[in-house]
Amino acid sequence: MGLRKNKITGETKIPRHIAMIMDGNGRWAKKRFLPRSVGHKQGMERMIGLMERAFDLGVDYITVYALSTENLLRPKEELEGLFNLIRNHFKEYMRRLCARGARLRVIGNVALLPDDVQKILHESEAETAHFAGKGINVALAYGARDEIVRAVNLAVESGEKVTEESFSALLYTGEVPDPDLIIRTGKEVRLSNFLLYQAAYAELYFSDKMFPEFSDKELDKAVLEFSRRTRRFGKTDEQLNTQE
Ligand code: FPP
Repeated sequence: MGLRKNKITGETKIPRHIAMIMDGNGRWAKKRFLPRSVGHKQGMERMIGLMERAFDLGVDYITVYALSTENLLRPKEELEGLFNLIRNHFKEYMRRLCARGARLRVIGNVALLPDDVQKILHESEAETAHFAGKGINVALAYGARDEIVRAVNLAVESGEKVTEESFSALLYTGEVPDPDLIIRTGKEVRLSNFLLYQAAYAELYFSDKMFPEFSDKELDKAVLEFSRRTRRFGKTDEQLNTQE
């Protein structure tokens, strides 16, 4: 089932894979009369902090929604701010995180991003390509419908009928187990075209906190809530009990 005991308390069940919708950077900045770009910078730092915390807890895979296909329609100035974060900080942050033996995968239609940004992303991925077992997935120019349509086209081209497993392997997240827990910050309660196929049995957790204020403690709270939920995967309680 992909669950671990918490390395810190030894009691809490830990999701093997956490995915995060990092919403609320803009509102966090606006409330403080700051430009949205400051919100995104704070968000990026929080993203790194949360990834470190998640690894400390024993999580193996972390997926973050950094830019959707729809976000690409945002004002040029805001997009440039996000691309500048990648230009100025991405390699250094990812090196620090991946030093723990995690493989970086960038998921999404990366060809839609500026050439120099694509180069940074490809180089960062290549640096960690030899790692297996732990992973960081950064979704950029990502949309789940786009991902599914792309996978369907790959299947059609191959001429082979697909199974649930073989289809799953054609998604951007092909080699990564499905998320156990999806967290969304920023008060909204929806998936916004994120991991729609992979989310079939994920536990969903929504927080009213804006992403820059989603602290390590908030992550711990989400994990604790996850560990209290009963995941039945469509089965009855009795079936689950006899399996244990
Ligand atoms: C949504 O909040 C967030 C984004 C569109 C960007 C998320 C990006 C980061 C957290 C950091 C950047 C990371 C990388 C790898 C570039 P919003 O701006 O829509 O917030 P709002 O709903 O309050 O306006």
